[in-house]
Amino acid sequence: MTVVTDVADLQALAKRRVPKMFYDYADTGSWTQSTYHENEAALQRQKLRQRVARNIDNRSVKTTMIGQDVAMPVALAPVGLTGMQHADGEILAAQAAEEFGVPFTLSTMSICSIEDVAENTKSPFWFQLYVMRDRGFSERLMQRAHTAGCSALVLTLDLQVLGQRHRDLKNGLSAPPKPKPLVLADLALKPRWCWNMLKTGRRQFGNIHGHVSGVDDMSSLAEWTNSQFDPSLDWSSVEWVKKHWDRKLILKGINDVEDAKIAADIGADAIVVSNHGGRQLDGALASYEVLGDIVDAVGDRIEVHFDGGIRSGQDIFKAVAMGAHSTYIGRAFIYGLGAMGKDGVTKVLEILHKELDVTMGLCGETDIANVGRHNLVL
Ligand code: FNR
Repeated sequence: MTVVTDVADLQALAKRRVPKMFYDYADTGSWTQSTYHENEAALQRQKLRQRVARNIDNRSVKTTMIGQDVAMPVALAPVGLTGMQHADGEILAAQAAEEFGVPFTLSTMSICSIEDVAENTKSPFWFQLYVMRDRGFSERLMQRAHTAGCSALVLTLDLQVLGQRHRDLKNGLSAPPKPKPLVLADLALKPRWCWNMLKTGRRQFGNIHGHVSGVDDMSSLAEWTNSQFDPSLDWSSVEWVKKHWDRKLILKGINDVEDAKIAADIGADAIVVSNHGGRQLDGALASYEVLGDIVDAVGDRIEVHFDGGIRSGQDIFKAVAMGAHSTYIGRAFIYGLGAMGKDGVTKVLEILHKELDVTMGLCGETDIANVGRHNLVL
């Protein structure tokens, strides 16, 4: 039995347990995957200043995100098809996040619906919106999220057209899945996953099934996305969303100082510095490379959140030290979920919390609020 000590252990376990088609969907970037790999590498390159003989008793990594108390500066990022990593994946991840005290964000492209998650959790979660060509549908999605009590809308701006991910095409990722023969054979090796899926029988996209035509039989996820998502989305569309949503609004997918300034002018509550985990514009700067400039430009006007490449508490510490108010994890929690279901997500949160707390202490800090660029070797 493997002793799980870090996120990489859970990733290895997930690779063994999750069908290749869905594991690959998570562990991939677009085109040459340079931005995907660079997200992690940029964080790795950042060195920390070790400080000693400072009283580091009584440490706290508690903070807030858009006014909400959180156990540490981490939220679960929206991840499409989470329910294919493990049956009921969105519900299980939301429950783990709720119990740990960090926000969970439900993707538009989820298997479990907004209502499924609301019925199985107690505290409000966040909903991520993709604006579709059919604006009426997007409006109804916002209404459903509102009715379900979602406290924040995370509007994703970096996916007007889909960055090609070669592995999804090679594996035959579609809905329903049309796996290639080798991928099908791989299913036979994943009895735990098959058993879980059989128990719940969830197979469809909960938020869009029955609401958007073609979703039950799409030739490929990529083709369907490109036919449904609105490529004409612009800043006036963001204003349109703002008009239809009277709670907190977070703009996700900002990777440029000029865009960050516009987002701040629009009056959102937070932005997420993100390149979609390297799944969209291959060749874009790593999120960590642009974080500092964006914080300097708008950090005094708007909460600057960060994602891309976080696999450890050290990574979270670096992002916060660079000026991020808070961070999100995508693949890290997905690997935990694929490996061990809800317990795996909890395990990831525990690992990150411990790594963050110890790193903070070894940098001579006791309160996450005091962490800053003085902790970095710049
Ligand atoms: C994503 N991401 C994403 N973002 C979003 O706004 N809506 C979505 O539906 C999805 N779907 C999705 C699926 C998968 C499998 C991954 C890995 C990512 C992007 C996600 O929210 C986040 O920006 C990245 O995952 C952050 O990078 P790391 O933490 O995965 O390195």
